[in-house]
Amino acid sequence: MPETVAVNDDYTKIVDTSDEWIRGRTGISERRVSNGEPVWYMSQKAAETAMARANVDAKDIDLVISTSVSPDYIYPSVSCVVQGKLGIGGNKTSKGAAAIDINCACAGFVYALDMAARYISTGYETILMLSGENVTKSVDYSDRSSCILFGDGAGACVIQGKEGLFGSFLASEGEGAKHIYARSHPVKNAFSPAPEASLYDGFEITEFGKMFLNGKEVYKFATRVMVEAVQKACENANITPDNLDLIIPHQANLRIMETAAQKLGQTMEKFYVNIERYGNTSSASIPICLHELAESGKLKRGSRICCVGFGAGLSYGAVVFDY
Ligand code: UT7
Repeated sequence: MPETVAVNDDYTKIVDTSDEWIRGRTGISERRVSNGEPVWYMSQKAAETAMARANVDAKDIDLVISTSVSPDYIYPSVSCVVQGKLGIGGNKTSKGAAAIDINCACAGFVYALDMAARYISTGYETILMLSGENVTKSVDYSDRSSCILFGDGAGACVIQGKEGLFGSFLASEGEGAKHIYARSHPVKNAFSPAPEASLYDGFEITEFGKMFLNGKEVYKFATRVMVEAVQKACENANITPDNLDLIIPHQANLRIMETAAQKLGQTMEKFYVNIERYGNTSSASIPICLHELAESGKLKRGSRICCVGFGAGLSYGAVVFDY
């Protein structure tokens, strides 16, 4: 996590808001914000900690999967940059390990974990997963309902082993894509420097890279699909949500997590929550939770865990596994 902290009162200098509103409506008290730390750097630091904890040498990693909505470059991938910095791979290839970035927004970690499990089932032995985010560079600081939500940070996991329970459920609702997005470069080039009209996508016209968020719509979507994703991932693993020891949800809003817990018939004791300290760190939020659980000794071998994510796309999903 970056060391710089932005507390709710800091936002009262930027927009018309209050600590009381932010805490009451979101559960957030503070977030970490990058003070120049790029995504590759935060991802690299998280990778070093994960590899040390797993006692895995960088050379033995077969594949790096990285997720981010806020990468430092359009290309190259974050996974290639970190592969190069840490000298990942090499024991089975002449140079570095395979490296892939995926963008499934805040559901990125869940999609990457599903992907990692499938690679493992086809013979890959050791996979490094990175989720690094610098969302604060793209938030719209004139929009009080969204700028207060987001923070920066990274998490990483080493994935190994074929034994144990695994089930997943992944889905998307692309018709809701217009509810949360950031545009890339405008469609213009040397031959059409100012095109009169590019094909209209139905999205509002926004500045390059800046976040647009329709919070209400994403809120409704999230409280509906979290329940479906957990139930279907459990079904695919032949268990029920009652059999889970721990549910680690994407940290977007405390009220979203409470509503999902209630609809699933589960208590909040089963849900891991740290949104009060970090806000929404997009795809990094679930691995940051896993890191805290590991650090505090609460992650026990054999724990039955469900990670559930949702976000831009709109995409969503859940994975169920035994730690
Ligand atoms: O990771 C995926 C991305 N995550 C999300 O999209 C999060 C999902 N959405 C949410 O968490 C919530 O919808 C928000 C936190 C974004 C908004 O909370 P809400 O309870 O849905 O508030 P609202 O949009 O219904 O607004 C209620 C009132 C409005 O005022 P009026 O029209 O009732 O006078 C807003 O203008 O609260 C006002 N408001 C604020 N007031 C003080 C909105 N933001 C703020 C603010 N401070 N920061």
